[in-house]
Amino acid sequence: MAKTTLAFIADLHYYSPKLGVTGRAYDLRQGSDQKCLAESGAIIDAALGRLADEADVDAVVVSGDVTNDGERCSHEEVREKFSAFAEKKPLYLITSTHDWCTDGNPRRFEGNEVFHDVPTLDAPALDAFYADFGREALVSSYETGKGFHSRCFQVGPALRLLAVNDDMDGEGGKSGYSEAHLQWMEAQIKDAKQNGCDVIATEHHLLLWGISGLINKGQSIGDNFAVAERLADAGLRLMFVGHSHMQRTTEFTSKAGNKITQVNVGSLCGHPAPINYVTIENGRARLQVKCLEGFTYHGEAKDAAFIRDHSTAVLTNLLHAAAEDKQDFRERLESQGIHIKPFDKIYPIIRHYAKMALTITVGKAAKKVNGVTFGKGVDKNAARALKNEPLLPYILDIFCCVFDGSMAAKEMPEPVKTIAKDVSTLPRRIVGKLPLGKAKKEKIYKTTGEIEKILRELIEPSLPDNTECEIDLT
Ligand SMILES: [Fe+2]
Ligand SMILES: [Fe+2]
Repeated sequence: MAKTTLAFIADLHYYSPKLGVTGRAYDLRQGSDQKCLAESGAIIDAALGRLADEADVDAVVVSGDVTNDGERCSHEEVREKFSAFAEKKPLYLITSTHDWCTDGNPRRFEGNEVFHDVPTLDAPALDAFYADFGREALVSSYETGKGFHSRCFQVGPALRLLAVNDDMDGEGGKSGYSEAHLQWMEAQIKDAKQNGCDVIATEHHLLLWGISGLINKGQSIGDNFAVAERLADAGLRLMFVGHSHMQRTTEFTSKAGNKITQVNVGSLCGHPAPINYVTIENGRARLQVKCLEGFTYHGEAKDAAFIRDHSTAVLTNLLHAAAEDKQDFRERLESQGIHIKPFDKIYPIIRHYAKMALTITVGKAAKKVNGVTFGKGVDKNAARALKNEPLLPYILDIFCCVFDGSMAAKEMPEPVKTIAKDVSTLPRRIVGKLPLGKAKKEKIYKTTGEIEKILRELIEPSLPDNTECEIDLT
């Protein structure tokens, strides 16, 4: 029986160095981004180099957001990288909203200045720009209302890939699919099966919520569960998505009992730089995430810790600025469009808490929480076990769990998990003590319940392994 291995990468957000990689304006931009910008080209080169060398990888699939923000120069340069790879192995891709700059905010950076005069590609130009990739394997295509093409490719002797563009094709201009588009997808799934092929799919926006609706709802296609029902009932069992930059595997069962699994591929240029391998053989798909171990930037070797530190710097930069440099802190906030009024009055309070966050130990933090909760906030034995340990690295580990499918949680000591679970229930317990009516409390419990669910999902994922599993495609 035929065996095919594909490698999925997503949210490359390739950033052309021509847009500026030095100066204060660039520093502020990259310091607020979980992904590496200047280094994105080197990371993509390392990933594609590895995938070209791996003999068992048959082809690569890129699941959207190939450029930072749809800049024409970024597209031109990343297409060269894709073309060079495609001379060795097939490469299939979908683009998404960042690739035609739907936020209307393309930027370049020079010294202290941000310029908005960056040429981009509009939807039809973008669709044509990448149309050659996979052309020889094309089975069928569908043109969306925005002028993009969803495509079905024959990617192996007995495997088809449905690579669909969901950009603003849903009801009310949301990401998703028109009825005709969805019917075309259902027909492709049926046709693949009639021709003895397994079929898997990729779209950019989320079909299912990975961590929680509170985080993922806005990242999903409109009417996502209704679409999941349709696709599962049509016989699709595996969907790769991108967009959230959060590696995570999620399952859904339709009312008719049909299962579909979503693999949310994290961003290649942010922690943990995941590459998602799927091997399909005998109607089964074996999935494994193997992260990029390192790359070379301007002749210097960088390891996975560099990418992780870049991601966590989103928090630590802000904390250090708040604790140590008022003007730096103000500029970092303002570069994100956050204007605190009156800044001078509030800053000393922020500085106090930022300093505390940078230095406090688990023991001291637990004491503070227990002080205001009459000793019932967090487990005393767990806090004692980590008494002299600084708190911040554990906070950063939990932050990393958002992006790495809770890989960081595997290394976490048990007392940390105990304390995190206790903290997750604090909002609910506090609300329970407040003198509020039953109806009001029930309403607030919906939010506190989600907060609880999120923290638990991060430290104890509902699927025991977000980075390795096997799926029945029949
Ligand atoms: Fe993205
Ligand atoms: Fe996206």
